[in-house]
Amino acid sequence: MNRNIVIRIDLEGRGYDVVVGEDELDRVGEWIRTNTNLRGRYALITDTNVGRLYSERVSKSLEKSGFQGVKFEVPAGEGSKCLEMVGRCVDRMIESELDRTSFVVALGGGVVGDLAGFVAAVFYRGIPYVQIPTSVVAQVDSSVGGKTGVNSVLGKNLIGVFHQPSLVVADPKVLLTLADREYYEGFAEIVKHAILRAPDMLKKIKPSSREGLTELIAENIRIKAIIVQEDEKELSGKRALLNFGHTVGHAIEQAAGYGEWLHGEAVSMGMMVALRISRKVAGLSKEEELKIKSLLDILKLPTSLAKAPSTDKLMNAMRKDKKFKGGKVRFVLVRKIGDPYLSDEVTEKLVAETIEELRAI
Ligand SMILES: NC(=O)c1ccc[n+]([C@@H]2O[C@H](COP(=O)([O-])OP(=O)(O)OC[C@H]3O[C@@H](n4cnc5c(N)ncnc54)[C@H](O)[C@@H]3O)[C@@H](O)[C@H]2O)c1
Ligand SMILES: [Zn+2]
Repeated sequence: MNRNIVIRIDLEGRGYDVVVGEDELDRVGEWIRTNTNLRGRYALITDTNVGRLYSERVSKSLEKSGFQGVKFEVPAGEGSKCLEMVGRCVDRMIESELDRTSFVVALGGGVVGDLAGFVAAVFYRGIPYVQIPTSVVAQVDSSVGGKTGVNSVLGKNLIGVFHQPSLVVADPKVLLTLADREYYEGFAEIVKHAILRAPDMLKKIKPSSREGLTELIAENIRIKAIIVQEDEKELSGKRALLNFGHTVGHAIEQAAGYGEWLHGEAVSMGMMVALRISRKVAGLSKEEELKIKSLLDILKLPTSLAKAPSTDKLMNAMRKDKKFKGGKVRFVLVRKIGDPYLSDEVTEKLVAETIEELRAI
């Protein structure tokens, strides 16, 4: 029997357990019985890819523990993160006579997690939900922290609420079926967590094998949990540290047109910019910058900005995002790996110059 790890997320009155372990997918029902007070009928929301592979196992486990419910599959991909899909899910739940005693089970990557969490947050003014994240991004990042929501036609993640799950069950074995590009993409957030809080974790990132990931995933969840617990609703600025690499990363995603670069790929380039700026103004050493670059290279993540949109386009995207105030931007920098801070001294000029420099690599 493989060892599982249970992490408690402590949030006044809204605490929950995160279970990480191989084959835990078959024990979702048991975990809900023993670690939550959910007892009603469920709506299992998944996407077409994940549903085909794993929904049967989850439904069986729920049934074995005495739960009854319905399953909906949304089309795989970011396009499903929209209000129309929220409406469709809610309508189906009403038709299926689910009510305020019901709960949602989100089985899938970050798209399903964000969508289904939001559906749970608005159905009957809010019912509980369980996250079963199936991508690296979802397991180490999006399933913990309670940010749920969908995209507006005018921008990503602009519609949403904080709604913490009642339980998260992450089974690293499901990552075996992820396509290569999606698998490696998720490691950008793992590298980010290591840069922010856990320099020692860098050594544990062994991308050549998809086996034995339980410990690594659990460690990432602990890091995300610590930061979320300190600043659940992004009020004190501590949670903003999680934006390391994301200021430029988001601009790349947006300026290139969503879908061109995967989020993690754009964040990888964004982290390179943040590291270089950290070298210039925060005293980060060249060795540490290079250490991260080599790791991102091994992970097949882009470290040069040669193929990124033009610097003008990127700067415009950041301006539109209201990132710059008075020519300066709030930017997460690191003095050394493991020692991040939020700086408001980074100028537009410095960002533009650094992007240009990193094109030449
Ligand atoms: N809420 C948060 O805090 C937070 C944090 C980070 C990202 N996000 C959001 O997450 C989304 C990205 O998540 P994602 O990268 O998981 O994308 P995704 O959910 O679209 O999954 C990527 C692809 O992999 C497939 N897939 C997922 N798990 C699989 C598996 N085990 N086997 C085979 N295929 C599988 C999916 O069907 C999809 O085609 C974005 O919308 C982003 O905004 C949210
Ligand atoms: Zn991210």
